[in-house]
Amino acid sequence: MSVKALMIRLSAALLLGVGGAQAVTLAGYAELPADTFAPGPASGAWRDGLRGQARFQGQPVQGFSGVQFAPDGTYLFLSDNGYGAKNNSADYLLRLYRLTLTPKTAPTGTGKVEVGAFIQLRDPERRVPWAIVNEASPERLLTGADFDPEGFVVAPDGTLWVGDEFGPYLLHFSADGVLLDAPMPTPNLPGLPTLTGRPPLVIAHRGSSGTRPEHTLEAYRVAIEAGADFIEPDLVVTKDGVLVARHEPVMAVLDGSGKVTEATTDVATRPEFAGRVKTKNLDGQDVTGYWIEDFTLAELKTLRAVERLPALRGRTFDGQFEVPTLSEIIALIRDTETRTGRRVGIYPETKHPTFMTAQAGVNTSQLVIDTLKKEGFTDPARVFIQSFETGNLRDLHATIMPAAGVKLPLVQLLGGQTGAPYDLTARKDPRRNTDLTTPEGLRDIATYASGIGPSKGWIIDGKGQTTDFVTRAHAAGLLVHPYTFRNEPTFLPAQYANNPEAEMRQAILAGVDGLFTDFPATGAKVVAEYAAPEVRSPQHPAFTQGASSGAATLGSSGGFEGLTLSPDGKTLHALLEKTVAGDAPGQLRLHAIDLATRRWTLTGRYPLDAPGNAIGDITPVNASELIVIERDGGSGDAARTKRLYRLSLTDRNADGTLKKTLLADLLNIADPQGLAPSTTGGVFRFPYVTIENVIVLDATTVLVANDNNYPGTGGRGAAVKDTNEFIWLKLDAPLTLAPGVGRR
Ligand code: G3P
Ligand code: CA
Repeated sequence: MSVKALMIRLSAALLLGVGGAQAVTLAGYAELPADTFAPGPASGAWRDGLRGQARFQGQPVQGFSGVQFAPDGTYLFLSDNGYGAKNNSADYLLRLYRLTLTPKTAPTGTGKVEVGAFIQLRDPERRVPWAIVNEASPERLLTGADFDPEGFVVAPDGTLWVGDEFGPYLLHFSADGVLLDAPMPTPNLPGLPTLTGRPPLVIAHRGSSGTRPEHTLEAYRVAIEAGADFIEPDLVVTKDGVLVARHEPVMAVLDGSGKVTEATTDVATRPEFAGRVKTKNLDGQDVTGYWIEDFTLAELKTLRAVERLPALRGRTFDGQFEVPTLSEIIALIRDTETRTGRRVGIYPETKHPTFMTAQAGVNTSQLVIDTLKKEGFTDPARVFIQSFETGNLRDLHATIMPAAGVKLPLVQLLGGQTGAPYDLTARKDPRRNTDLTTPEGLRDIATYASGIGPSKGWIIDGKGQTTDFVTRAHAAGLLVHPYTFRNEPTFLPAQYANNPEAEMRQAILAGVDGLFTDFPATGAKVVAEYAAPEVRSPQHPAFTQGASSGAATLGSSGGFEGLTLSPDGKTLHALLEKTVAGDAPGQLRLHAIDLATRRWTLTGRYPLDAPGNAIGDITPVNASELIVIERDGGSGDAARTKRLYRLSLTDRNADGTLKKTLLADLLNIADPQGLAPSTTGGVFRFPYVTIENVIVLDATTVLVANDNNYPGTGGRGAAVKDTNEFIWLKLDAPLTLAPGVGRR
């Protein structure tokens, strides 16, 4: 190597500037002109779903999105879906082209790409269960409006597996391109860290209380129809011993001047009840107002609910709805189930048990069980009973439920970090909430309860960081159902930028098993992202050909850009290009598919450098390591990130994502020989927006190529059509290759 070349390589190595990165040198270069066509029908007639004049005579041999070795030293390259989008590509035929690449390896040589035969992907055996573009023809040639192929492998049996991104699907073809099986959908393998692995429950907090006055049949009805799994009545008792739904026994609070400061009924406007105002000590505080336990059910039924937070939620529904009994709420559940098929559960909270016993002389826990039994609503899959106090839950567990012959899951509610259960305070027990949440405290709760219902601050701290609370509660075998998720900005910590879904997602990723929300429609929407059986893009046929019951959970062009085969030929590795809705931003799901059993598992998550980046391709190094292309959306001078990473399939970062190590910066490749026409100052840049082909040739050489998005421009100038460039990169340190990896 000349001194000049050595200097260029050293400076390139310094420019890489990332620990562990290798300096890479351009060892070979070849180029396929943009306007290269193969035989076939004229194409390019479609624009935004409308058919016009064909722009091209024949089929373009471009847009490569995958590469594998072919016999005789040639390569197979997969052509992408064509003209940029599904509705532009109905006349673009999906093919694999055999290319003979002759790199330029010395300043005086030439790089050459010869296009050979192609394999036409097709479905003559009618494996695709929906109408394809060439539905009626016998050959049923597949087009870029049917699938968007982004990666492929040649299996040991010679068949081809192709990763698509319209489904996204995996497609299985014979060696000569005949579809062998129905497209294989992408299972939603969320790997949710809930206690059961199932998606979390949506618990309608006081009903759909964000949109209707809380604790009314209307609030519960709206909640059920919005998709809640459970509806939550807080329960207090009337003078004649009936459980009704109110958050507090006091239904209108007065200040010292007699002004109403908070109300959930219009009782303060009723002159007939003016004499009912009383001051009582509620859990250690004197409160003046109208108390439910001083009203008979008949009196209570003359009142109407009003909005508790009118400044925030308005008064549209004031004066319309009664205070419901627990029995009426159960009747509503049954009625709604009959009408809509929605089968929900009930999540009653015994409010202020110590106060209720002292003031009303009623054990509301006993009354809840009696009422549930009377109404025949004792399925443990459809009831949770919750309380902030501990003694009544212990009683329910130890005596009340056994005596009644029912066994329902109990949930210990937990107030803020500085608080304590009132029954403990009342009997001078010094334990506080922090004592209840030690490992011993949580194990103690698990002796009588199935779950814990903490305020949100236990799960996500004041700095927006996820705590270890869920992990610790799960370790004790406890479900975790935090409260209260609300949509209004005033309740949302600043880090969520007015996006309540983001807060719910963080809690779900923390592993919560359910969440109390005033807005069950929002909760149901977010949870559905995790509950969907399949990952689907907006181009999935369920959406484009009607009859859909779900929403897309993957952005457009986010499918299997990464598809490769393990060195032993037994496992497909399939990496999504974009983040599935609900996953942590910037993390991509990497799946393993056992070719013998067709079983999918989640290997782990690939961490992008930035959430807006994407991956371009993957290829194996050995059994525990892949190479991944990561790129940003820039091209030409605007390109900032075009990189090769080594990705470990076994080592993980602290956040659980798979560990990656920079292998090469494709914007900083030493080209001491000046092999590439674009090389400047001895440095070659590969600034294409999509770089979608990588394969290991030997321990120190990898081949990389772009997808030119024909007839796109921008990589080498705004007015220059992007070509297909093929670059051979020499690594400074050898890769540890498994047998079978590299050109044999
Ligand atoms: O029961 C969960 C949650 O409702 C506890 O808070 O005060 O709204 O009943 P609260
Ligand atoms: Ca409650």
